[in-house]
Amino acid sequence: MEFKHRHLLGIQHLDVSDIVTILDTAESLAEISKREVKKVPTLRGKIIVNLFFEPSTRTRSSFELAAKRLSADIINFSQQTSSVVKGEALKDTVLNLEAMNPDALIIRHSCSGASYFVSTFCRSHVVNAGDGSHEHPTQALLDAFTIRQQKKSFKNLKVVIVGDILHSRVARSNVFLLQKVGAQVTLVGPPPLLPVEFKNFGVEISYDLDRALEAADVIMVLRIQKERQKTNFFPSTREYRSLYCLTEQRYRLANKDAIIMHPGPINRGVEISSEMADSVKSVILKQVENGISIRMAVLYLLLGGKERETAD
Ligand code: CP
Repeated sequence: MEFKHRHLLGIQHLDVSDIVTILDTAESLAEISKREVKKVPTLRGKIIVNLFFEPSTRTRSSFELAAKRLSADIINFSQQTSSVVKGEALKDTVLNLEAMNPDALIIRHSCSGASYFVSTFCRSHVVNAGDGSHEHPTQALLDAFTIRQQKKSFKNLKVVIVGDILHSRVARSNVFLLQKVGAQVTLVGPPPLLPVEFKNFGVEISYDLDRALEAADVIMVLRIQKERQKTNFFPSTREYRSLYCLTEQRYRLANKDAIIMHPGPINRGVEISSEMADSVKSVILKQVENGISIRMAVLYLLLGGKERETAD
């Protein structure tokens, strides 16, 4: 399969065929994770740097597993244990790591545009693993993979995304992706976390979760991102919970077989009840599992290309 991009910086500039290529490639690679020996030699000899300037549980470990399943060597960089604490700038950090001749840099950073900035001067392929409030492309791709697995088609699916939309790179990447593939997106949250300008993305917006859940096929719940909030955006957690927490009672307003998604980490009892997070309708852990296949696909398409046909 052909992929015409050198980097994966966001969903906004991908077209539908790029998205389908990644999803189909992930589908074909998924069986490797079910083998007794979960490894193929496809990216043997390639070096990948996991460059994380923000904490991560899912993204970082699934990129690492994805790289290892394709036999690439991976270096894990974490800001807290690096020379960034001595004042080294992002550019110098990247230039020094690049001097070790990696093939790809996977970067997570608190600044929107950080991965684009890095791509302007580095030689390696760059993958955005989350940049500030801007984009988190592999999260949206694994979400789409999970939705396609569960619902077969995106056409006219009603997807409700509820939570801290303003600060969410996951919401932004999902809005771009889901609109491109024909789903109907409704964004829901308290007014300070859902500015009216979001309508410019061509989505519905609502401040009333109960009403928005009517006929929903997919409910994507997002965390309140306290680390990106400079002020209080709503009076109290208690009030947020009473208006926006996905409870069993609220879930019943959606379509009978609506699926529940969350990119993680979840705050049980705040944006989602424990009952709903652990229910049979929840595909939250399926999303995590699918993240490995999506990240294998991204690394393969950027680094391996046609070599795979002869390599494994
Ligand atoms: N979904 C997600 O990005 O999770 P992590 O922050 O744990 O990587």
